[in-house]
Amino acid sequence: MNLSIEPVSEAHFAGLHAALDTVAREKRFLAFTQAPPVEQAFDFYRSIIANGGCQMLALRDGRVAGWCDVLPSHGQARSHVGILGIGLVPSARHLGIGAKLMQATIAAAWAKGMTRIELTVRADNTNAKALYERLGFEVEGLLRRAFRVDGEYFDSYSMALLRHDSMTMIESSL
Ligand SMILES: CC(C)(COP(=O)(O)OP(=O)(O)OC[C@H]1O[C@@H](n2cnc3c(N)ncnc32)[C@H](O)[C@@H]1OP(=O)(O)O)[C@@H](O)C(=O)NCCC(=O)NCCS
Repeated sequence: MNLSIEPVSEAHFAGLHAALDTVAREKRFLAFTQAPPVEQAFDFYRSIIANGGCQMLALRDGRVAGWCDVLPSHGQARSHVGILGIGLVPSARHLGIGAKLMQATIAAAWAKGMTRIELTVRADNTNAKALYERLGFEVEGLLRRAFRVDGEYFDSYSMALLRHDSMTMIESSL
């Protein structure tokens, strides 16, 4: 099985949309419980490319097996902050692909000048939380009843990763 990690491109929009829909419909991980309509999703992917955003795909034998993005937050005062999302289709999990995909996407976000990456993970998603912690993310808070799926509430953790040299930059400016 040949694995490659590469930036999203138009040729993979359909595969990305299908992967998102598969993970969303599991209803255990994401805020979406199904993917947005195709045209809306494709416009969104195009806007990410047009704005130089960080969205990477994991391709197994050329087919989309997952995605990871670090998307900008709104407001000038938060222009250093990106919001991370990730998902792999079930057959691509527990193979080390998530870590590789995240590392490539985080490196791209740092290269764009971001110095803080935030994410939200459901408290019962222990697999994802363990991966985030392995990569240096720290829990900053518990968000109570942050998700509701089929009438059931789930807490989530707010986590963040700071670019290693960001503290140095802040300290040297004091
Ligand atoms: C969360 C997610 C992205 C993690 O990706 P992943 O590839 O499964 O994660 P990792 O790369 O860290 O691998 C996880 C496990 O595989 C093991 N692993 C890593 N490399 C391996 C390899 N080469 N061969 C076998 N196992 C391996 C890891 O040790 C780890 O095992 P553990 O959990 O028992 O300690 C993925 O599981 C996923 O898409 N889940 C559903 C969607 C989701 O939760 N998204 C996040 C929402 S916040």
